[in-house]
Amino acid sequence: MHNDSSGRIVADLREWIATAPPGAKLPSTRALVAEYGASPVTVQKALRALGAQGLVESRPGVGTFVRAVRVARPHDYGWQTAALGAPPHRLPRLSAALRTTPNDVIALHSGYPDRELLPERLVRAAFGRAARGDSAVGRPPAAGLPELQAWFANELATETPLGVTPPSPGDIVVFPGSQSGLNTAFRALVGAGRPLLVESPTYWGAILAAAQAGVRTVPVPSGTHGPDPEALARAFAQTGARAFYAQPHFANPTGARWAPGLADRVLDLVREHGAFLIEDDWAHDFGIDADPVPLAARDDQGHVVHLRSLTKSVSPAVRIAGLMARGPARERILADAQAEAMYVSGLLQTVALDVVTQPAWRTHLRSLRHQLAARRDVLLGALWEHVPAAHVETVPQGGLNLWVRLPDTTDLPRLVADCESSGVAVAAGGEWFPAEPTGAYLRLNYSGPNPGAFPEGARLLGRALARQGAR
Ligand SMILES: Cc1ncc(COP(=O)(O)O)c(C=O)c1O
Repeated sequence: MHNDSSGRIVADLREWIATAPPGAKLPSTRALVAEYGASPVTVQKALRALGAQGLVESRPGVGTFVRAVRVARPHDYGWQTAALGAPPHRLPRLSAALRTTPNDVIALHSGYPDRELLPERLVRAAFGRAARGDSAVGRPPAAGLPELQAWFANELATETPLGVTPPSPGDIVVFPGSQSGLNTAFRALVGAGRPLLVESPTYWGAILAAAQAGVRTVPVPSGTHGPDPEALARAFAQTGARAFYAQPHFANPTGARWAPGLADRVLDLVREHGAFLIEDDWAHDFGIDADPVPLAARDDQGHVVHLRSLTKSVSPAVRIAGLMARGPARERILADAQAEAMYVSGLLQTVALDVVTQPAWRTHLRSLRHQLAARRDVLLGALWEHVPAAHVETVPQGGLNLWVRLPDTTDLPRLVADCESSGVAVAAGGEWFPAEPTGAYLRLNYSGPNPGAFPEGARLLGRALARQGAR
């Protein structure tokens, strides 16, 4: 109650301050108490919030005043140009997948699922329990909470065929999200200046992580059926690369799911070349018509390093991922993770473990499957109806995205800007290519807010495309 009215007082006073001259005196606490019917504590809380935002200053015994705006003096940061030199690689702008857009924009660009697809009740209850427990004040082991390591290991063990040794809890290192795990894997297993084979197109964040680590990415043509094994074999042979980063299940962006034959062939290739497969199982919980079976479950020789994220399926606020690696690779990974961040918040690990071990988690995943199917099909149907020039080569069997090919003549930057100004945000596919894009693509996410607006989003996209002459 207090929170609500103090929020309203803050909002109203912010508006008032916006037009008031610097130094203007705010209404007294007593006047605000009378006006809002709030308690003095609530009013003080609102004034403190405005103070913390730098908008007002209190003079004890005198009152609260609009803070004088300090005239911004232009700073000269030119010396930094000399200190930093030219960047070693092109600095990417904020990825489309991470952009926040105004609420009235139909968001088909985003990378993270909408709140209505999260197990919100489970997450809130888990935070409540965790806040009362030891993890709120303790330090977990560097590799992760043993119970969470055991959960990640067991998830892989349930898929492990007879005759293959399942991973043990000690093979798991917990990371604050799989983006962090990718950074570590690239640094620890590949290293600056050395080649890393990647699918093309592939996840923009992996391209970014490789660039930051100084790793040289070598693109291997891939598509809605996964990478071309012949091209992969040639790339291994020609570059001497010792690692291949790939997403065998519902790849971001193509939606590809590798057929069993392709998975076998890739496993053979990494074994033959004494290499690692860095398997990014980001969409493990987002199966729609199929369920991912990690390649890592079929390898006990340490060739497959497996990354499983819970960030998108549990909550973007609970950034937790498990990385499975065996042998010296695991030691290198743990050393890098410690240098980077020492350990992952035990509170977040406890919350993640609490959520995924509740019986209601399974029920949630079943309902999520249906919701994703419905959303995917609504967006597909809307594209067929309103964007006839768009081509979706394969309907993804899981994941969160459609990979949409547009006519080659499309001016993508103009299309994206045009869409956004008419009320729909889309992501241009170029970010997902480690080299030049091989066509005009959009990545459309069907897990964003308000699926009821997807048809309108597609209609706006179709209109923007038609303005470029495509039908
Ligand atoms: C393919 C892929 N891998 C990894 C990540 C990063 O996941 P996390 O949020 O766990 O860091 C993403 C996020 O978009 C992704 O799409």
